[in-house]
Amino acid sequence: MLRVLVCVSGGGTNLQALIDSMESGKVRDAQIVRVISNNKGAYALERAREHHIDAVCVSPKEYPDREAFHAAFLHAVEESDPDLIVLAGFLVVLPEEMIRKYRNRILNIHPSLIPSFCGTGCYGLKVHEKALERGVKITGATVHFVDEGTDTGPIVLQKAVAVQSGDTPGTLQRRVMEEAEWELLPRAVDLFAHGKISVRDGRADVAD
Ligand code: GRF
Repeated sequence: MLRVLVCVSGGGTNLQALIDSMESGKVRDAQIVRVISNNKGAYALERAREHHIDAVCVSPKEYPDREAFHAAFLHAVEESDPDLIVLAGFLVVLPEEMIRKYRNRILNIHPSLIPSFCGTGCYGLKVHEKALERGVKITGATVHFVDEGTDTGPIVLQKAVAVQSGDTPGTLQRRVMEEAEWELLPRAVDLFAHGKISVRDGRADVAD
């Protein structure tokens, strides 16, 4: 059974999609062993607890500096002994030590077709604002492994979503979640659990 740790900061709809897919058997041979949030008000923590999943908050506000926060965060990660770490709307930059230790074992979901509308400062609603500003007709979501850059790691899965006339950042965000994110993230975890993802020369290969 693959031990999955999920890191969250907000509402947790991607976490919910993962939980539902595990409960329905769509994702097999994987279990969420812990959910960590950097924000104690995150609704994602409640979603986890409702499903009897260990849910903890490690907030930078409770530590004197970044170094102390990173040490506490890494401790909470390691304690859960994960095989795979999933960033599901996690808004904290990971300690480099963690990226090295779990290389090609940390998945992130980003709500655009990378390399469009990504990078430092491009997260949440801003991604969809930029897509609408640029006038793209197609956007989507990407699941990728995390490396030392921002949204630069090996791409695992992508799915396109059509932009509709009259879209606002909010309606586009919702459609990207419904049509792409909630499908891609569970699929990526299932593929990982079955050894179907390999990485070579900075690129991920998926065997279906
Ligand atoms: C999602 O759009 C995800 O792609 C992004 O942050 C959002 C998190 O939403 N990284 P939720 O907390 O899973 O509802």
